[in-house]
Amino acid sequence: MAVYRGTVLWFSGEQDVHLVEDGALVVDESGHVERVARWDELTGEQRVNAVQDYRDDLILPGFIDAHAHSGQVDAIASPGGDLMAWLKDYVYPAEAKFRDVDYAREASSAFLDMMLAAGTTTACVHTTSFKTSTDAFFAAAKERDLRMVAGKVLMDTGAPDELLDPSVGQAEDDCRELIERWHGEGRALYAMTPRFGPTSTVELLRMAGRLYREHDLWMQSHLAETRDEVDHSLERFADLKPRSYLDVYDQCGMVGPRSVWAHCIWTDGPADWDVLRSKGAGIAFCPTSNLFLGSGLFPLARARRAGVRVAFGTDVGAGTSYSLLATLNEAYKVSALQGDHLTALQGFYLMTRGAAEALQLEDRIGGFHSGAEADFVVLDFAATPVLKRRTENVGDIHERLFALAMLGDERAVKATYVMGRRAHPR
Ligand code: GUN
Ligand code: ZN
Repeated sequence: MAVYRGTVLWFSGEQDVHLVEDGALVVDESGHVERVARWDELTGEQRVNAVQDYRDDLILPGFIDAHAHSGQVDAIASPGGDLMAWLKDYVYPAEAKFRDVDYAREASSAFLDMMLAAGTTTACVHTTSFKTSTDAFFAAAKERDLRMVAGKVLMDTGAPDELLDPSVGQAEDDCRELIERWHGEGRALYAMTPRFGPTSTVELLRMAGRLYREHDLWMQSHLAETRDEVDHSLERFADLKPRSYLDVYDQCGMVGPRSVWAHCIWTDGPADWDVLRSKGAGIAFCPTSNLFLGSGLFPLARARRAGVRVAFGTDVGAGTSYSLLATLNEAYKVSALQGDHLTALQGFYLMTRGAAEALQLEDRIGGFHSGAEADFVVLDFAATPVLKRRTENVGDIHERLFALAMLGDERAVKATYVMGRRAHPR
């Protein structure tokens, strides 16, 4: 048993906040949470067992990034252009490098280490078109014992030839092989990953939907990030007479529980929100990406009011940071521009339990209920001079949490633990 003393914050639902100021996270030998207690509730023996004193720090469940691209580790911060131009000029060439297995291994490891340094312990990840790059990603995640949701990117039109699946049949064979090898292997979970409408034929989308349902997998793609993408997709799939872009995916059997849709800025109003809500789907809101590419402002408050599950995504490499704290900072501003003001508690909920609910993984991660997998992050209220000064001069814990949420990034991450073992710094 191990005990971590600190201010402990976790959620068992959006309104169910557990905040213990001089608290302790108790983790069992198998790397699962035993309980959260007040420090003064622990027995003398338990206090002696305390391996770590984080008394001045905040202990939270590990952050969950609902959307990122491991294939874009070296495309982050590439200048210029809207989505389609940026994909063509920077992203496709960067992803093509993953044909080289040695590079794919090194890049996947670097990507995961940067996530851990940012306090992220689970992510929904698009790898690249190459089956071998998906193997490399899952192997790197396994070395770190991480719960990762990932899949091979599927594309069969509208992108450079070297990145296209040669046929839907071949793509299906590749996916079946990867599912067999990785889905449920250790902590790995497989997501069918058709890139988006403009790079898919209807046959490819139907295949993705079929395997998702056949194997109870996860599903991830992009949806309505830009108006251009929506127009392009409605035109491409006109034969389906879709009500909306989402309806194309829905008609192909892709929308349901464990499906995660990145962006959803230009979705088709209340009817689309209603489909996403009623099917138990999740949205990845990626503010640093949306601002970087000039895609638009995601209506977070409206989506939440409509009852849709929402999480944050970094969307590295269109996103400009691996840090979900930095992502929350931008989410706050995107919401403020629309007249809504996130609280620190709402933000921390969305980075942990809310994201776990969006991925339908809340029984295992995102919280500190008894039996949860003990992935957690320790944040330092005094990590930088600005943070230190600001958090020393505040009224109450909520103000301190808000300052930490706005001013924090990788520098605020004192340690990241995976299944009860310290994974960062190593
Ligand atoms: N839409 C399709 N592919 C991508 C991608 O790689 N990044 C982003 N931000 N949007 C996409
Ligand atoms: Zn993306």
